[in-house]
Amino acid sequence: MDINNISQAAAAEIKNCESAPALEELKVKYLGRRGIVAGLTGSIPQLPVEERGAFGKQVNELKKLLSGIFKDKESQLKTVSPQEKTSNIDISLPGICQDLGRKHPLTLIVQEICEMFKKMGFAVVDGPEIESEYNNFTGLNIPLDHPSREAFDTFYLNAAPGDEGKYLLRSQTSTVQIRAMKAQKPPLAIVAPGRVYRPDAVDASHSFMFHQIEGFMVGEKITFSDLKGVLEFFAKGIFGADIKMRFRPHFFPFTEPSAEVDISCIICKGKGCSVCGRKGWLEVLGSGMIHPNVFKNVGYDPKKYTGFAFGMGVERIAMLKYGINDIRLFCENDLRFLKQF
Ligand code: DAH
Repeated sequence: MDINNISQAAAAEIKNCESAPALEELKVKYLGRRGIVAGLTGSIPQLPVEERGAFGKQVNELKKLLSGIFKDKESQLKTVSPQEKTSNIDISLPGICQDLGRKHPLTLIVQEICEMFKKMGFAVVDGPEIESEYNNFTGLNIPLDHPSREAFDTFYLNAAPGDEGKYLLRSQTSTVQIRAMKAQKPPLAIVAPGRVYRPDAVDASHSFMFHQIEGFMVGEKITFSDLKGVLEFFAKGIFGADIKMRFRPHFFPFTEPSAEVDISCIICKGKGCSVCGRKGWLEVLGSGMIHPNVFKNVGYDPKKYTGFAFGMGVERIAMLKYGINDIRLFCENDLRFLKQF
């Protein structure tokens, strides 16, 4: 066969070749030790002397040409097409799922609640978890000997020598009332989410650390009706438009009058079930009109200003909204639980 024909045939075969092993076979066929090119080289001594030089040159060129074409084809076969890739995949095998991170249910509910209050013009404010006894108690009209201090049982910190007053882990986010009112003049409307601490034994409904959201509004003509309107917007937004709300008279040292707020049971719709203790109502927060003594303590004129305040437990709201029956689930980092939100 003439060298040109060999060259064309080889180029065509290489072009049509579709796998690395098949290409390797072709390479052996053409460039191998007993291959076609080697055969041509071996035939040189049989040629008339005057033809040997030119023929030898042609064979060398053929060898170079084919080597180049093989090299190109080899690298082309290494970059596998998407079709070839997927043709090797067994789509009946279970896939490898990429785990997505997500927000903790308490973070979600705090954000949801704060967003609702922001829509009504409230600002979201932070406060420290280590507090003075004054901001946690005295400023909020809970004097040292007041029996209600027991209700807010507290972790006290060992004060460093020279520290004035006592420090504690705040037992309520109402502390932010004192901080914000001392720093700002009315009118103001603030919600303050955060952690609080009480030395409670842990069970399905108690924990030594939980979250609260405090809210308050102060101005020249703030009334109990404003409180009702604001809380109704909140309760309907979180629990649904068909929820009913009621105010039950109560006592808190920092508000007068004070009320606890119930919503109609979201499980039985008010008929009475085991979740609401057959009452048809669920307590969701404490509230009232800010006590004149609190205003005096922060330097506000109680004759000029009025205001309302309220405080809710975030875990309780989340447990009611999502039907969670154990507060410990929030801290266990069990992905089966966390993945549901
Ligand atoms: N601080 C109260 C608690 O920890 C909740 C509370 C009740 C806050 C009534 C208020 C309020 O601002 O007016 O139980």
